[in-house]
Parts: sequence; C-alpha cells; structure tokens
Amino acid sequence: MRKQLKNFVEAIGTDAIAIIPAAHEVTRSYDTEFKFHQDPDFYYLTGFPEPDAIAVIAPSNKKNPYTLFVRPRDPLMETWYGRREGVEGAVKNHGADKALPIEKFESELAKMLDGHEKLYYRFGVDNKLDQQILQYLSGQRFKRLKTAYPPHTIIDPTILIHEMRLHKTDGEVKLMQKSADIAAEAHVLAMQSTKPGMNESQIEAIIEHYFRMNGAAGVSYNSIIGGGANATILHYVENNAPLKDGDLLLVDAGAHYKGYASDITRTFPVSGKFTKPQREVYDIVLDVEIACLEATKKGNTVKQRHELSIELLTEGMKQLGLLKGKTKDLIKKKAFMKYYMHGVGHYLGLDVHDAGRYFTDPKAKNSRPFEAGMVLTVEPGLYIPPDDKNAPSKYRGIGIRIEDDVLVTEDGNVNLTASCPKQAEEIEELMNGRQAKSGKK
Ligand code: GLY
Ligand code: MN
Ligand code: MN
Repeated sequence: MRKQLKNFVEAIGTDAIAIIPAAHEVTRSYDTEFKFHQDPDFYYLTGFPEPDAIAVIAPSNKKNPYTLFVRPRDPLMETWYGRREGVEGAVKNHGADKALPIEKFESELAKMLDGHEKLYYRFGVDNKLDQQILQYLSGQRFKRLKTAYPPHTIIDPTILIHEMRLHKTDGEVKLMQKSADIAAEAHVLAMQSTKPGMNESQIEAIIEHYFRMNGAAGVSYNSIIGGGANATILHYVENNAPLKDGDLLLVDAGAHYKGYASDITRTFPVSGKFTKPQREVYDIVLDVEIACLEATKKGNTVKQRHELSIELLTEGMKQLGLLKGKTKDLIKKKAFMKYYMHGVGHYLGLDVHDAGRYFTDPKAKNSRPFEAGMVLTVEPGLYIPPDDKNAPSKYRGIGIRIEDDVLVTEDGNVNLTASCPKQAEEIEELMNGRQAKSGKK
C-alpha cells in the first residue's frame, strides 16, 4: 500500500471508514472539457489519475482495506475519450485491494458502511455523492437501528489529510525538486530569449513549451507575464502586450510535474540592463527576499516571517521616498499596503497555494512554527502604481517580485529554486550572452 494511504489508514483507526472521491471532468463549453485536474487530496492518498473514481478505506477490513470504485473498461468510450484502467488496472497497477465499477457504489454503501462508528467524509464538494450518502444515512436511521448500524459520527477528513500533505516525504521532495528545476530552467531561457519588440505572449509560449518538452504536464497556475506597469497587477494573466526597451518584465510561472507545483518569480529588464531607478527598487526587494528566505527555518513562524518582510519593505519604501515617517507608525497604519499588499509566501505542494493550516489555534497570537518537511514560497514585492502622484516619477509603474521555493530542514533550509539567477548582475550577464557567475544549485 502507498505510504500516504498507509499513514491515513493508521490515523483514522479501525472503528472508522472513509469515502474519498476523485474529481470529475468540468465542461468548458458545449461538449468540450477543460483539461482534467485530479482532486489533490484523492491523488495524494491513491495516486489514481482518472476522474469519477471513489476510494473507500476501511482499516478494520484486514484483507481489503482499500476499495476503489472506477469507470469500467468500455471499448466504445475508450475509443472516443481515452484509455481507462478499469477494475483490473485499479488493482494491478494502482494498488487497490479490490476494485468495483463505479455504478456499483450506491448499492454497496450499506454493506460497506454499516457497523463502523465513524465516517470520514467531506460534505459540500460533490453534490451527487452527498445525496447518495445522505440517502443511505436517513434510510438506515429509518430502520431505527434495529437492523442497521450506520456510522453515528461524521468527520471531515480534510484537516487530517492536509496536515499530512503539509509535511512532505522524501519522495515528494524529489518530485518538487524536479518541478523546481524545470521551472528554473524555463525562467533562464525566458531571460535569454527576451528582447525589446517581443510580446508577453511569446515569453509565455517559450516557458510553457519548455515545461512540456521537459516532462511537466503543464503549468501549476496560469503564468503571469507582465511587462512595464503590467507587473503592478498581481494576477495579470492577459499576457498579450508588447515588451518595451527600458521596461522591466515580471515573470511568475511554475511547472506542474507528476502532480507537484513549483512557483518562481523573476523580474528582469527587457533590454538586458537595469536602469538606475529600477536597480534601486530591485535591490531592496532582493535583500528582503534573501532575509525572508533565511528566516524560513525551524523555530520561526509564518507570522514572524511576514512581519519581517513588512518591516524591511517599509524601510525600503522610506529609502525610495515612497513613504515618510517613523517605521513603527507606518506599519501600524498599514501604509505599506499601498505598495506591498500580499503575503510573503505560502505552502507549496500538490497545489500551488498548498494545503495546511497557517494558524492552528484561532485565538493564538502567533502562527504555527515552521517544521522540517514543509515547503514554502518566499515572494516579497514592491508595486508602484503608474499614476501614483506621491511616488517620485522615476519609480512610477515599476513592479518587482522575486520568488523562490524553500524546503525547511532540521538544520536550516534548502532553496529548491536556487539555480535560477536573481542577483541583478547575474541576470544582466545571462541576458547579454555571458554565463551567470553563480548559478548555484
Ligand atoms: N503565482 C501565484 C503565487 O505566487 O502565489
Ligand atoms: Mn508565484
Ligand atoms: Mn507564490
């Protein structure tokens, strides 16, 4: 049994049963679908890639704790819509102890669930499945517990699975390193390819072509390719403007590799050379990024790291003449929000904004400490609106973010995206055809 599933079986215990559904295909329009994306919780536990499946996990069933309901083999459907593992493949290739066609799920419910104290199931995600389970529960209760023993405690398994997802295994870290390597290489290629007169769409194409050519399934989120003032729009995804000499280009793009996300941002000059004002803003963001990366280690907390980014960026804003006053007061008034309005980073894993709680106690003043095995992004930025009359004119329309992916270890951290250059000189050398000096791993 897959390690993730084994841990889950041990965690829920023998008086429980769990129902974990796969995702369904989503209609894009009329009779076409969006590219299928598996539900990450289901994928984490089972590794099964197909839509419409349901995993039933019953630790008390020593012989067959893991039953997988799947789409059955069907030559006609497979000719039209693609191969299926079917019940044979679910057992043979995907480690299910037992597999049944999905059509059998409803009629098997009572047999599977009766006699268990607890049911692990998340209501509110899959409407059809919710109805089937509710109908089973009300039907069994109707029998007044004389002849039926439905579970009487229903638990949302999400917190449990998300805690597991938050702490990466060595195998997961290897996949995340590969995802990070593909993305880092694509960013280097983007820097080497960018020239004035090109379009943002072409840089997007270069990056995503590289992803697909190197084993990634595609992007882990829609790429953000923002030239000039487009970089001041946090989730700019139009990616269709010409790139101008003298402007910066912000590229925020990550690969989706065997389920795992990477998430890198680099900001570089379209011409290959930073102007003086651009460099002033850039070096402030870079120093903050390095400080926050350093602070991503055991003993520190998510909240402390964010507060560090606010303090250092507020100092930087004062240095640039964007804000005036005492740092403490500016922070209290949240004056920094005008130029730095997002968090300094997030968990990363199967999802780009990955599973796991940041605060484990709703009343706690501080958030949870970093632990070995967590992977987080570090991504401070400064965004100066093009029409900001209060900003010195030389800085207006500059948007800079620098983002790396970091694994917390027992004795520090590993920057998974360290091979992607971020020192201004390194970037300039790379863009002007010279090898970057310290493309460290
Ligand atoms: N690209 C999304 C993010 O950086 O959070
Ligand atoms: Mn990003
Ligand atoms: Mn991010």
